Amino acid sequence: MKTIIEPFRIKTVESIRQTTIAQREEFLRRAGYNLFLIDARNILIDLLTDSGTSAMSTGQWAALMRGDESYAGSESFYRMRDAVQEIFGFRHVIPTHQGRAAERILFTVMCKKGDVVPSNTHFDTTRANIEFTGARAVDLPIPEAADTQAQLPFKGNLDAAALRRLIRQVGRDHVPLILLTVTNNSAGGQPVSMANIRAARAVADEFHLPLYLDACRFAENSYFIKLREPGYRRRTPKQIAQEMFSYADGCTFSAKKDAFANMGGFLATNSDALAEQEKNLLILTEGFPTYGGLSGRDLEAIAVGLQEVLEEDYLEYRIASTSYLGRHIADAGVPIVEPPGAHAIYIDARRMLPRIPAAQFPAQALAVELYRHAGIRSAEIGSVMFGENARQELVRLAIPRRVYTQSHIDYVVEAILEVYRNRRRIRGLEITRQARFLRHFTARFRPVGSLPRTRPRRRQRSALP
Ligand code: F0G
Repeated sequence: MKTIIEPFRIKTVESIRQTTIAQREEFLRRAGYNLFLIDARNILIDLLTDSGTSAMSTGQWAALMRGDESYAGSESFYRMRDAVQEIFGFRHVIPTHQGRAAERILFTVMCKKGDVVPSNTHFDTTRANIEFTGARAVDLPIPEAADTQAQLPFKGNLDAAALRRLIRQVGRDHVPLILLTVTNNSAGGQPVSMANIRAARAVADEFHLPLYLDACRFAENSYFIKLREPGYRRRTPKQIAQEMFSYADGCTFSAKKDAFANMGGFLATNSDALAEQEKNLLILTEGFPTYGGLSGRDLEAIAVGLQEVLEEDYLEYRIASTSYLGRHIADAGVPIVEPPGAHAIYIDARRMLPRIPAAQFPAQALAVELYRHAGIRSAEIGSVMFGENARQELVRLAIPRRVYTQSHIDYVVEAILEVYRNRRRIRGLEITRQARFLRHFTARFRPVGSLPRTRPRRRQRSALP
């Protein structure tokens, strides 16, 4: 059979709600054109993030009942730790309430003012947590990644030569660690090859530096290695993941992605000295080291999710379904980051809306229009999120795991193609209010000129509930 189906059936459903264009225009005005400030009940299809939005399996729900809520020495922690160590192999596993808590603890312990932390591309919370310590986060993606249209198997790779140059330039004593994000979320969800992880390891060894992985989407990365890198076709995703982590000294992990958990994460390391400092900080803000800000039942969900995510029929479906969305819009002319990644499709708004300058946030404007037109929420990854560090202006359509069916995706395809046909009507935005860190969560905007309207104002007001 050629058709790749969803490898699950539905046991519990959750209704989603249609709204009218007029209602959505009013919601947008009230939210300052920031999709984070729109209530979820007013979203039809939510592609804001794949984080914490997964559907849990019957196996995970059953495991929740086993949750041991003991403050210290919880059985659930040991089950989670064993599940993590089986795949990741690190000596110390420190649970945290989500990925960014692991980041904050890691960087507080390792970084100081004046330090530089290189990565293939830092995620926004990673960058912010590094900068909060006074250190500098530097992105070193391979140069080819700048071309959204280039078809490369591992466009998420780190530029190892640039890494070497940077370390020589700032001095190894100012580089507390090297971080590799797998898959490379901010650069189009592109995978990193095993060869590139090995190359990063070689640079780390050359300068005696630790190498960490930001491992949120490690299973998806493993599957791309299996499909695309010579020598891995006959290996299981788990064996590939084990090899990936064997080159690292530790990792940060958000269980809200590839562990199908709605909450959770961990920090892992092979260093006894670091683990001790990290656990002390953990107790200060997250909790005792056998729960780290999580319920026992959350730890159980992670333990089961980590096994499920490495199942090949799941990963095959995951990559095929995301690529289905990507191919259907790209083949009709919509410029996306090629080739499609696993957790999201990214529309290249700079290419799609060349008349809107970066200062008017083309990707934000496109995300706003997609919501206005069809009730679909996406995320800007561009000048709003990264300010002057933005390399691209992207709209990310992140696909929650095991949540939407093919007909939902067909609706998304149709909506994007309609927005694409009417793209000349989209106006830019200007910021009216913003915060210093992570401004995309709270910034407010107003349209430059007027946004296209479909209904007279009077009716928009009366249409509201
Ligand atoms: N690293 C990467 C690569 C991420 O994508 C995320 C989260 C984090 C770290 C932080 O993890 O949310 O559990 O604190 N990414 C989500 C997203 C929010 O939408 O891409 P967290």
